Amino acid sequence: MDEPLTIEGGCPLRGKVRISGAKNASLVIMAASVMIQGETVLENVPRIRDVEVMCGILQSVGVKVAWQEDNSLSITVPDDIGIETPYELAKKLRASNLLLGSLLARKGQARVCLPGGCNIGSRPMDLHMKGLSALGADVKLEHGFVEARAGDNLFGNRIYLDFPSVGATENIMMFAALTPGQTYIENAAKEPEIVDLANFLNAAGARIRGAGTDLIRIEGVKELTGVRYTVIPDRIEAGTFMAAAVATRGDVLVENVIPTHLYSIMAKLQETGAVIEQVDGGIRVVGPEEVKPVDVKTLPYPGFPTDMQSQMVSVLATAKGTSMVVENVFENRFQMVDEIKRMGAKVKVEGHTAIVEGVPALCGARVKATDLRAGAALAIAGLVAQGITEIENAYYIYRGYENFKDKLANLGARVW
Ligand code: UD1
Repeated sequence: MDEPLTIEGGCPLRGKVRISGAKNASLVIMAASVMIQGETVLENVPRIRDVEVMCGILQSVGVKVAWQEDNSLSITVPDDIGIETPYELAKKLRASNLLLGSLLARKGQARVCLPGGCNIGSRPMDLHMKGLSALGADVKLEHGFVEARAGDNLFGNRIYLDFPSVGATENIMMFAALTPGQTYIENAAKEPEIVDLANFLNAAGARIRGAGTDLIRIEGVKELTGVRYTVIPDRIEAGTFMAAAVATRGDVLVENVIPTHLYSIMAKLQETGAVIEQVDGGIRVVGPEEVKPVDVKTLPYPGFPTDMQSQMVSVLATAKGTSMVVENVFENRFQMVDEIKRMGAKVKVEGHTAIVEGVPALCGARVKATDLRAGAALAIAGLVAQGITEIENAYYIYRGYENFKDKLANLGARVW
């Protein structure tokens, strides 16, 4: 168990922070690597807990995984690999369900643990399963596992997703990449991580067009070959540091980002009165003296990301006025509200909406991270608060943020 993360607040963040590779892109591209015979090298992979768990899952099916330099990961897939993700590891990482599409494509069979409920809401896989069935696979849910068999009668097809699910789009895209014929995914998710997966698969020989739009076309190919590929920067890590800069009324240059991935986040932070400009090498964020209230609705990309919702609540906790934050993607993502209230925030949750009434100051307290982004949000609140904040369950933060403490300390935060 990790020590709590302790923060002494009241110090504006100043300086530069370099953003790491994207967690969600790394996890899905690591899963997709099992479709490739031989060696794949992924660069810019963050050394975070979730990536370590995914390494463990790949190793458990017989894949060789080795860190080369700091952030380069070599993945070598022998001819014969297993088809089942082990419960003990898979339960630690929802993204382990991304091996469904890739193992099925590679081995013709897959057995992956159903992720089950998690802290932010139920995580069904009905859309994943429907999509793979539409391509001719036999998919069923048994004993807590999704079991899929490719069989001999696979064909490209048109698949309409009832909701633009990121994971379902990814699983279907991976399987379709090695399924004969043309597959169309309609109402596909448009997240940058989907585009990164398509770019990776195309570099390995796949034929995928339209990723990043709501219609993705995939022409199945026979095989994929090893590549060296660089993962995109993490837009949520970038957004988190931008939010921290605004909340602490600081001045931070966020380096190694793709600005187009950050438009919705920049737009909402600008509405708080922050000055945000694209400069050489990144995005500079200067926090306002007084944060204005802002209404935020989470939506699939290019809408405001649900993964930034908690951090936004922390920013708005000390705004001059009342903000409404509506969560439209997950049903239970306001758990950090009870924790930030312990720090003096005034937040009321009604259904899918958090009503955040800004207070002049937060005060440090002992709080508990309930999930990854809630942990990051409490860290932002701790940076703003007067006195000491101790965040328990800090391991949630380390699941998704590389060198979080050091990056904050380099920006002048008092953190240990
Ligand atoms: C991914 C991200 C996560 C992010 C989320 C939304 C990874 C590893 N995780 O999660 O950080 O918060 O996208 O941007 O990339 N749903 C169904 N049936 C399904 C699949 C999903 O009803 O078969 C629902 C979910 O319950 C949820 C919504 O769709 O309410 C969004 O889920 P989805 O886009 O699939 O998120 P993940 O891929 O799990």
